[in-house]
Amino acid sequence: MKGKFILTSIVTAGFITALWADTPKPPSRIFDETEAQRAERMAWWRHDRFGMFIHFGLYAVPGRHEWVQSIEKIDTETYGRKYMPRFNPDLYDARKWARTAKAAGMKYAVLTTKHHEGFCMWDTKTTDYKITNTEFGRDVVREFVDAFRAEGLKVGFYFSIMDWHHPDYTVDFPHPLFGKIEGDKKAAVAKLNANRNMDRYRKYMFEQVHELLTGYGRIDIIWYDYTPKGEFGKTWQDWNAVELLKLTRKHQPQCLVDSRLDLMESEDGWDFVTPEQCKPAAWPTVRGKEVPWETCQTFSGSWGYHRDENTWKSLPQLIELLADTVSKGGNLILNVGPTARGEFDWRAMERLEGFARWMHFNSRSIYGCTRAPEDFAAPNGTVLTYNPKQETLYLHLVNYPMGFLPLDFYGKVKYAQFLHDGSEIAVRNPVARHGQQGDLKPVGGLVLPMQKPNVSVPVIEIFLR
Ligand code: GLC
Repeated sequence: MKGKFILTSIVTAGFITALWADTPKPPSRIFDETEAQRAERMAWWRHDRFGMFIHFGLYAVPGRHEWVQSIEKIDTETYGRKYMPRFNPDLYDARKWARTAKAAGMKYAVLTTKHHEGFCMWDTKTTDYKITNTEFGRDVVREFVDAFRAEGLKVGFYFSIMDWHHPDYTVDFPHPLFGKIEGDKKAAVAKLNANRNMDRYRKYMFEQVHELLTGYGRIDIIWYDYTPKGEFGKTWQDWNAVELLKLTRKHQPQCLVDSRLDLMESEDGWDFVTPEQCKPAAWPTVRGKEVPWETCQTFSGSWGYHRDENTWKSLPQLIELLADTVSKGGNLILNVGPTARGEFDWRAMERLEGFARWMHFNSRSIYGCTRAPEDFAAPNGTVLTYNPKQETLYLHLVNYPMGFLPLDFYGKVKYAQFLHDGSEIAVRNPVARHGQQGDLKPVGGLVLPMQKPNVSVPVIEIFLR
């Protein structure tokens, strides 16, 4: 009887283990932070709404996408040998970057300390593959942190958990060596990985993260990127992600962490989700619950400097993107890929200067704002944000109307004005006009000047009754 029980237990346990082994899940909770503590930790970020992403690395030299090494299937020796001696961003002036970001209304900045190529932009002790071993010789990360802090911006580190340089990092499908495989992928990958050892890579990665989180003062955000999923991919276990997160919180308890360590199953394995290059239709949810989110977007199609890429978004498109993000309760982090000389490219500058002009007048519609309460629907061609503390609405006129903007909630408007010049906008009750004949009912709304003011996207500030 006893023997049978033990046997059944072993079989059951084995079965369960087998199931778990198939789809191991991270713990549902990792820390004992309460919801209120978490909300407080994230308060500045939810208020600030607008940040700058900076993708700066060796890939600025070829200048054709930060994935160039993978796209062109270049092994790390060839890549490093060719580009490292050419990387001399002599015009790099972090203070200039910081001032530009600040003027554009961005409140935080996240810099790539290491991208997938594995090249380190700080003076690490873990490898020779680093910026301080180039002719340039300076610690880019240090100067970035100092300059952005001095301008009062929050600082964040992007850190690639993938690494195409380290000899122990196992080849997965994004890896440049994977692209070279011809024929049977399984056998080829097994052969490539025979002497690679993720234990050693993890040790290296943990040391790097430790350096970054202990050597540069307070870090407000860490942006781990990313877990390639599926066949020939990786999982949270490959990164020892739970421990990596614990290490992060140990050294930077207040730091916000993105959602790319494959810890979505944990309630607190991430702080915000990161829809990339897309404009979500509604406030993103996880397990049915609306969550903090940040969309990361480029000015054009590449993150790293890309000389010949030409899908640059226009200023009005970008402003709409920002307002639309805020109208769904999210943040926008907009990316600049500095050139190999260390400056922001003129096309990025043009847009950043445009943001500076626009935010100078209109930042009230962004900071501290979120989605409007349900009874306020945005009319066609507009984007509506809401400041819950002030109880004010901000109507972004993406398509400028002709003289009159019908508004369902006109009855709730106490006073309205243009944000850029503080000039009054009249609220009109429904009155029958000659034009409104037949079944057309008179509508109430806002009376606007016929000509669009000289602002990319004009904003109307609405005080409520
Ligand atoms: C992606 C890409 C990468 C970029 C990042 C930004 O995962 O691999 O090149 O850095 O997203 O969100």
